[in-house]
Amino acid sequence: MTIAKNIQQQATKLRDLLNEHNYYYYVLDEPRMPDSEYDRLMRELQALEIEHPELITPDSPTQRVGAKPLSEFAEVLHTTPMLSLNNAFDEKEVHDFDKRVRERLKLVDNIEYAAEPKLDGLAVSLRYENGLLVKAATRGDGSRGEEVTQNVKTIKAIPLRLCGDDFPSVLEVRGEVFMPKKGFEKLNKIQTAKGEKTFANPRNAAAGSLRQLDSRITTTRPLTFLSYAIGVVEPAISPDKAVLEKGDIREISRHSGILYRLETWGLPTSKDLKVVNGIQGCLDYYQDILTRRDNLPFEIDGVVYKVNRIEQQETLGFVSRAPRWAIAHKFPAQEALTQLLAINVQVGRTGTLTPVARLAPVEVGGVTVINATLHNQDEVDRKDVRVGDTVIVRRAGDVIPEVVRILPEKRPPNTQPFVLPDKCPDCGSDVIRIEDEAALRCTGGLLCPAQRKQALQHFASRLAMDIEGLGEKLVEQVIDEKLVKDIADIYTLSLEQWAGLERMGKKSASNLIKALEKSKSTTFAKFLYALGIREVGESTAHLLTQHFDSLEKLMQAKNHELQKIPDIGPVAAEHIVAFFRQSQNREIIQRLQELGIYWVENEFTTAAQSLEQSLTGKSFVLTGTLTRMTRNEAKARLQALGAKVSGSVSKKTHCVVAGEKAGSKLDKAQNLGIKIIDEAALMVLLEESA
Ligand code: IVH
Repeated sequence: MTIAKNIQQQATKLRDLLNEHNYYYYVLDEPRMPDSEYDRLMRELQALEIEHPELITPDSPTQRVGAKPLSEFAEVLHTTPMLSLNNAFDEKEVHDFDKRVRERLKLVDNIEYAAEPKLDGLAVSLRYENGLLVKAATRGDGSRGEEVTQNVKTIKAIPLRLCGDDFPSVLEVRGEVFMPKKGFEKLNKIQTAKGEKTFANPRNAAAGSLRQLDSRITTTRPLTFLSYAIGVVEPAISPDKAVLEKGDIREISRHSGILYRLETWGLPTSKDLKVVNGIQGCLDYYQDILTRRDNLPFEIDGVVYKVNRIEQQETLGFVSRAPRWAIAHKFPAQEALTQLLAINVQVGRTGTLTPVARLAPVEVGGVTVINATLHNQDEVDRKDVRVGDTVIVRRAGDVIPEVVRILPEKRPPNTQPFVLPDKCPDCGSDVIRIEDEAALRCTGGLLCPAQRKQALQHFASRLAMDIEGLGEKLVEQVIDEKLVKDIADIYTLSLEQWAGLERMGKKSASNLIKALEKSKSTTFAKFLYALGIREVGESTAHLLTQHFDSLEKLMQAKNHELQKIPDIGPVAAEHIVAFFRQSQNREIIQRLQELGIYWVENEFTTAAQSLEQSLTGKSFVLTGTLTRMTRNEAKARLQALGAKVSGSVSKKTHCVVAGEKAGSKLDKAQNLGIKIIDEAALMVLLEESA
């Protein structure tokens, strides 16, 4: 007795919970539970009811399709009910379905199935009378829906008038209104820009857009439509005029034939419809679509198999509002519910601080997820994510899993808002937020372990210290084996240490030592560029060396002084100041100098000054391919001589250097009558000026 009472309570609890969430999902368009969780609870209730049929109540969510329509829309009665589909979550359930079908049809042979993607939008019924679209309705609870004719008419994929002349006088077309992935992303960007609520997924966006009382809003939403069934049809559809061979899948006695006829009348149908043979054909189709899922322009949550022959469909009939002749084979859910255990801070290779949610392990899209990105502080604030929260995680394709939102009603007491630290968790350096950027960045640069590999690779690169032979693989090794903690250490490794690394012999080790020695003699600009200060690329480094004749002066420069330099804006200035403010960075620079790195302090300033007469202030444009040096080199050498190098040709351009295969910039220069020189002439100019 007590057990039975327990079970009854459990069923009531499940029903209430499902009904509540059904309301959020269907009526408010505001799901508060991922579909996978809803499905799981529904199956739990179904299992209970199968075991104890006496527990079934007329209001059980297992006994109906959807929810009551919103009162503001006119109600539409569906003469032919809009059906639901039973779900299969694994291959066994698909096999069971096929077995049931064959048993009922008393067939041992393979069944001919039509396989289609299961679109993730909302079902609508379109009524055409004498070829004109007269009424459109949502599914609602399957028997009664909402009239959304005006809104549907805004969807360009839906014809307002059918093509041809052989359509039945009354034709109800059923299909899915949905929002393609690209349109969804764009819509959310617009919503964000307008400061309005974003949609959690394309399905919600489609539902929210179609169920608008004002069709002027719907018209701005990127909705589309595909047909997959018919409702009332009077008189019956006549066969196509085209003479078809027996067994042609376009025969009107087949589901695929009906869709074919709909297409001839201008109604869109899925390009991925396939007629397959037996259960194996279905499962192959599933695999094929699953591998293509991420590349499809719209979201799908599975595939649908339908017995293709109409007379077989009729024999099979329906059970509680779902056809016995069809089943939805669901893909692993892309969203799931879990607990947020902690928030860690990860420092990326460029110093960006990313808050990462550590989660109670959960299956999402067929993979166990334990981490999800929270992107940045703004996102954390917007979603108000806190440790202890119950969260919805989403993983689509290869994309990093993310926390979509939290369930506020599940929040435990005494949680704290999360704030990113103001010191880097990896190196303790200051963290700064640059104006207009969402990201927080560590200023540790050269010292920060998280940024070491990138910093060292950049330091050794050709336009920086130009250390020949110190490539990516070696950089990884010396960092991973902890031989190098900061970039200065690279000059302290012994021949033996180098020779001991993978794929390094004595010979290459000795060459590397020579290259390191050679790199010690450099220029101020190259050194500055090598430090890898954010926003300080090669040309900014040059600019800086033209305005500061020593590193010491630059290191003490104030933000406003830097901003006085043309082309140096507030962002670059802030990065430069922040970099030199870090004592660790100053120490590394000092060590590098102690290890023998040198340059003629004001080499470029003097060079530029002495050439005041020649190239100063003259504006050059480089175009086409240069063969004797890279464009970067040419740019740097021209800049070192005081010239400006610009990316586009204008009346103010003094000279265009045209390399091989020069294109539109050369044409423009010719049109404007600007002086044009080739690479050889540039070499002469550079030699003469130097
Ligand atoms: S056929 C006779 N085909 O899934 C059964 N439904 O779970 C009528 N859906 O309400 C539906 N893609 O919104 C069918 N290719 C497809 C579908 C599809 C998506 C949706 C539809 C339906 C729900 C049932």
